[in-house]
Amino acid sequence: MATRTRLVAGNWKMHGSRAANDALLGALVSGARELAGIECVVCPPFPYLPQAADRLAGSRVGWGAQNLSEHGSGAYTGEVSAAMLVEFGCRYAIVGHSERRALYGETDTQVAAKFAAARKAGLVPILCVGESLAERESGRTEQVVARQLDAVVDASGADSLARAVLAYEPVWAIGTGRNATPEQAQHVHAYLRARVARSDDGIAAGLRILYGGSVKAANAAAIFAMPDVDGGLIGGASLVAEDFLAICRAAEGKE
Ligand code: 13P
Repeated sequence: MATRTRLVAGNWKMHGSRAANDALLGALVSGARELAGIECVVCPPFPYLPQAADRLAGSRVGWGAQNLSEHGSGAYTGEVSAAMLVEFGCRYAIVGHSERRALYGETDTQVAAKFAAARKAGLVPILCVGESLAERESGRTEQVVARQLDAVVDASGADSLARAVLAYEPVWAIGTGRNATPEQAQHVHAYLRARVARSDDGIAAGLRILYGGSVKAANAAAIFAMPDVDGGLIGGASLVAEDFLAICRAAEGKE
């Protein structure tokens, strides 16, 4: 079986300030010195990427963006291109977060275009998929995540997942304190991996699938113990250094 290096990524969302970031990044740099065998990444808001790049250069913590434009350049007021993110040392870009889909109307097609734009510039997209509570309760979870995944596979091919990360984030678990149970997460992760395997077994076996939605220090180990969970995409708990580091240690299998 392919070995998949676990990844813990912090999605700061629209939080932070120069002063708060300075303290958080400093604590992450020193705490991360003890980490081994996992990858640890933070995704601050755009204006703080140079600050992250300065503070994290040479450390064990990488950085990425929370969003990007599907366009290369041009008259797109307020947008940020993949090439700009690369200039600031980003390795990853989150695409298709449910907040972007729900609050800013991002469609599957647009998310697929952002995924392609990220890869074209050399970024590793972290593609988010996940169902709403109503969709889960009406038994449509698999149908929804399949549709979201297929939009990307249809546009970029299954091969494109060789340099990408998938994140399963059930909408009902985001910021609610109500995480999916480890078994619920495992079920959807296994479903997603099997769906990729229909196109390419090897790529499916190597694909990292993160779980996101109310991951905390207290529940991380149980979720990461599931065979198809390869790390986490962390919101609220990524803003507190000790909590984020504890989740990273859980990914190492030490907590
Ligand atoms: P919370 O960890 O705050 O639930 O957020 C999850 C998330 O949306 C990460 O992208």
